[in-house]
Formats: sequence, C-alpha cells, structure tokens
Amino acid sequence: MSEFADGELYVRIPEDLDGEEIILVQTTYPNDKLLELYLLQDALSDSAKESLTVVVPYFAYGRQDKRFEEGEAISSRAIARRVRVDANRMLTVDVHHKRVLDYFDGMMLDVSGMPALARYLEEDGVDMVLAPDENASRHAKLVGDLMGVGWDYLKKERIDSWTVETEEKALGVKDLRVAVVDDVISTGGTMASAARILKDQGAKSVVAGCIHGLFVKGAEDRLKVFDDIVATDTVSSSHSKVSVAPELAKEIKTFS
Ligand code: R5P
Repeated sequence: MSEFADGELYVRIPEDLDGEEIILVQTTYPNDKLLELYLLQDALSDSAKESLTVVVPYFAYGRQDKRFEEGEAISSRAIARRVRVDANRMLTVDVHHKRVLDYFDGMMLDVSGMPALARYLEEDGVDMVLAPDENASRHAKLVGDLMGVGWDYLKKERIDSWTVETEEKALGVKDLRVAVVDDVISTGGTMASAARILKDQGAKSVVAGCIHGLFVKGAEDRLKVFDDIVATDTVSSSHSKVSVAPELAKEIKTFS
C-alpha cells in the first residue's frame, strides 16, 4: 500500500494467492481505511472471488443504519453492499446495530468483543459495570455477568453530535471501582456524563471501557475524569490495551 503524488492510494498484492483461502482483515476508521478496504478487496478479487472472507473489526457508519431524516444515505447499508461486491463472508465486532447484518447479502457474523473487555476489567479490580445509556445495557449485562459483578444502566438523550444529557439515578456506587462500558467512544461526551454522576455519588474510581475507541478531537480532555481508559484493538489507539483477536480467531475457525 502506498500513495501517488496526489494522495491517491496504490494497492498491489505481489503474491500469487490463486486457490488459497483468503481472510482479509481491515478496519474502517478513519475514512481512508474504508477506501483501503475496497481497493484491497479488488486486488484480491481475481484470486479469491469464491472464498474471500473479510474481517472488519470496526464497521464504520454503523450508527447511520437508517434514514433519520428524509433524503439521508443509509450509510451502513451502502458500505455493506460495497463489501459484498468482492466478498461472500464478513465478520465484524460489535456492530452498532444488528440491522447491518441484513444489509450484507452473504454470510455475516457479528462477534462480541465484550469478553475481551471483561478479562481486562476483572484484572483491573472493577466492582461494578455501568452502561451509559439503554442501548449499551446488553453490553454492561454481558460484561458484568462474565465478571460475576453487578451492573446497571443510565438513560441518555443525545442533543447533538457533541452534547448529551444523562438522567440522574441512584446507583449505590459509594466506594466502588466502577467501569462504564459502551461499544463506541467517539467524542467521549457519553462516557464523561456518566462518570460525573458516578463521582457525585461517591464512586472510589471510574474506568471507561469500550470496544471501538475513536477518541475524536477533544475526547482526551473530556475523559480526564476517568482513572483508566481501555479500548480494544479494533481501532488502534494509545488506549488499545486488550485484543479481540482470540474472539475473532475462535469464530473464524467455525465460520464457513
Ligand atoms: C451510541 O449510541 C453509542 O453507543 C455511543 O454511546 C456513542 O457513539 C458515543 O459517542 P460519544 O463518545 O461521542 O458520546
């Protein structure tokens, strides 16, 4: 992979892969990675037409899974359809909405990375798990159950891309180390809002845990309230402290 003088990408796979079973692993954040995925798929399309499996650890645009307003693109559908052109199987990790699975007209499996997060948080001595909004409550339940600790959730209203409002609720977290668990951290606003509630209620310490850490501009500042931040390696960042590779490897073996 390299770039032309004007910044356009150049992709060449020099090995002869004819007849090989090919598994392409490519994340899709930031945006350039999406284009890389399409070009890599195209480069492999002659050798792997019948058997290309694409592993997309972070499936971008998963939050735009429908038209919220007339005239909008259904972005996750557009991506799923494009990936399908050169692949018949796709694995993802914690896609934001399961609807994406319907958009990929081939075999698709969404693997949970939450067990990886649970491993880290257990080692980290976390006493309780909290979902920062109702959508994330299934994640908090899974992580809490795997760790054998209690879990709870908050209710959040999104005002705009940068602003959320979280409802206050008594959580019984005094002197506890609490992990706030979500699928994605983007601006960090959702996490920070939950952390403020936890600190106000006397939590001893707070940990932010997510599968996909995007950490867009300003997120690091917003997340300073946390004593620890952990993300997986579906998107690489300085907070990628745990890998979902074991979860993916296990599923790839049985996925055919
Ligand atoms: C949305 O429902 C997701 O699960 C996350 O809560 C959201 O994407 C986090 O965004 P931010 O970090 O910008 O608050």
